[in-house]
Amino acid sequence: MSEAGQIESLREEVLAGLSRRPRAIHCKYLYDARGSELFERICRTPEYYVTRADLALHESHTPEFSRMIGPQAHVIELGSGAGIKTHRLLASLEAPRAYTPIEISAAALARSARELESAFPEIEIRPLQADYTRPIDSDALTLDPPARRRIVYFPGSTISNFDHDEARDFLARLGRMAGAKGAILIGVDLVKPVDRLLAAYDDAEGVTAAFNRNLLERLLRELGAEVEIDAFAHEARYDEALERIEMHLVARRPTRIVVDGETFEFDNGDSIHTESSHKYSVASFNALAEQAGLKSQKVWFDPDGLFSMHWLVADA
Ligand SMILES: C[S@@+](CC[C@H](N)C(=O)[O-])C[C@H]1O[C@@H](n2cnc3c(N)ncnc32)[C@H](O)[C@@H]1O
Repeated sequence: MSEAGQIESLREEVLAGLSRRPRAIHCKYLYDARGSELFERICRTPEYYVTRADLALHESHTPEFSRMIGPQAHVIELGSGAGIKTHRLLASLEAPRAYTPIEISAAALARSARELESAFPEIEIRPLQADYTRPIDSDALTLDPPARRRIVYFPGSTISNFDHDEARDFLARLGRMAGAKGAILIGVDLVKPVDRLLAAYDDAEGVTAAFNRNLLERLLRELGAEVEIDAFAHEARYDEALERIEMHLVARRPTRIVVDGETFEFDNGDSIHTESSHKYSVASFNALAEQAGLKSQKVWFDPDGLFSMHWLVADA
């Protein structure tokens, strides 16, 4: 997607998202170059257990992933970010045919593609800057000759950002992307005590707060919006019924955001919902996968049982 195209889509989203109730802006807009950099810093905060647990899981189980994937696979990764786990996975595979990272953040994609190209000169790296919530051009994923099988790799529990209905439809799409002989290897964060979850999305150093507020900075930088950034506070909430963390930007005083001449008024306490992170049990995720026409064949956990990876195939 071109830079101009991305700015236009941000503009449309912001105008629509601030007009609806509750006000919401899609979490994909948290990730520009600065957002990706802040996300990598979040991964290193003591409170954000997700990345460490996911890495520990990869540490223990990558040899088994590799056996299940087999030789000559085309690995397609969604939201590849810094690609740290990817590095580990690619290093373990037998003669992978190609690797396609699909990423919205041009800066994160360019950096990780560069690193992987230099670490694995023998692997064909095919970076694709795209928004995976929109249709992906199937030609961009097609190899000639075709790979032995496709593996759709989606670690980090980014699936948690989707509401349940969207997650079901997205998983079904990933199933079609993997194809009949393929599989999906996907990370899923597990339900755990609320205080641990809230801390993970509201670290003491304030990196998550900066990540969230970067969205308002994007409105200033990219849309020329009028916005008083310091009028908004970062807040993490847990919705018990939906088993999800929500990130909000909450007005601490009456303020307004003006975009393209349209004014959006905020009273003290009004919020913009910027991200959800749904937590699953193995049973609730398996049920979701089943609704998407997929079958879970294997589940792995990190040593502390905080995080899971699932091997999903089409339910024939
Ligand atoms: C939670 S981070 C996970 C990063 C990495 N996969 C990991 O496991 O640490 C989500 C990643 O997905 C990317 N992303 C978010 N929404 C996206 C979208 N709609 N299309 C493509 N990439 C997206 C972000 O830029 C970010 O790199």
